[in-house]
Amino acid sequence: PGSCSPSSSLIAESLLSDAHNIESSLRSLQKFVPTDYASYTQEHYQFAGKKIVIQESIESYGAVVWPAATALCQYLEEHQEELNLQDAKILEIGAGPGLVSIVASILGAQVTATDLPDVLGNLQYNLLKNTLKCTAHLPEVKELVWGQDLEQNFPRAAQHYDYVLASDVVYHHYFLDKLLLTMVHLSQQGTVVLWANKFRFSTDYEFLDKFKQVFDTTLLAEYPESTVKLFKGTLKWD
Ligand SMILES: C[S@@+](CC[C@H](N)C(=O)[O-])C[C@H]1O[C@@H](n2cnc3c(N)ncnc32)[C@H](O)[C@@H]1O
Repeated sequence: PGSCSPSSSLIAESLLSDAHNIESSLRSLQKFVPTDYASYTQEHYQFAGKKIVIQESIESYGAVVWPAATALCQYLEEHQEELNLQDAKILEIGAGPGLVSIVASILGAQVTATDLPDVLGNLQYNLLKNTLKCTAHLPEVKELVWGQDLEQNFPRAAQHYDYVLASDVVYHHYFLDKLLLTMVHLSQQGTVVLWANKFRFSTDYEFLDKFKQVFDTTLLAEYPESTVKLFKGTLKWD
């Protein structure tokens, strides 16, 4: 299985068709200074026939790949046709070091990876390193702080996402209501939220109850070895 080193014709084709995307993605790269972690490690993953190298650090929650991310990647890989990922418009919240966005991008989707400002430099580095010249659409990186300036930065009238992806965004933190608000804001008719999470604490189940109040919810998969559950949610419309 190849790493991200496509044939020369594929590079030429991708460079031509994606010249605009590359330019705008590189422009967006300049917005983010490299994340200043003191120590990095390189972790290797394999999805969608590609070797993926992720630069991680233990200095931030958002700089390591969490268990739900690998579970969600496995699901995307196994169900790529049924999910119709080719050219699908996807936004990931709390993308961290970016594994899920990278896999979605390799599977053909148009991805916007979002997170807190502090981790965006590392996220952008990983995305470009693993997707430049080998994906149909280069992923973009944007700041998205849950519950903050949503309509201003992600106006509902201007964009429609086929999927909102979220892995291990529910754990002990004080932003669970803002997280749910964000999921709702990003969802329109036809948007599917794919939320994978390791279930540890009663607060995780409390969030699930609230999630079920606003989204029609289906349990898509369970990964008992990691206690990760993957849910599909579509906004309830009255
Ligand atoms: C546990 S990590 C999961 C990272 C990645 N999704 C994964 O599964 O490997 C949680 C992520 O949510 C992000 N996050 C936490 N609070 C946030 C907030 N208020 N707004 C936006 N992102 C937030 C963190 O920066 C981090 O990247």
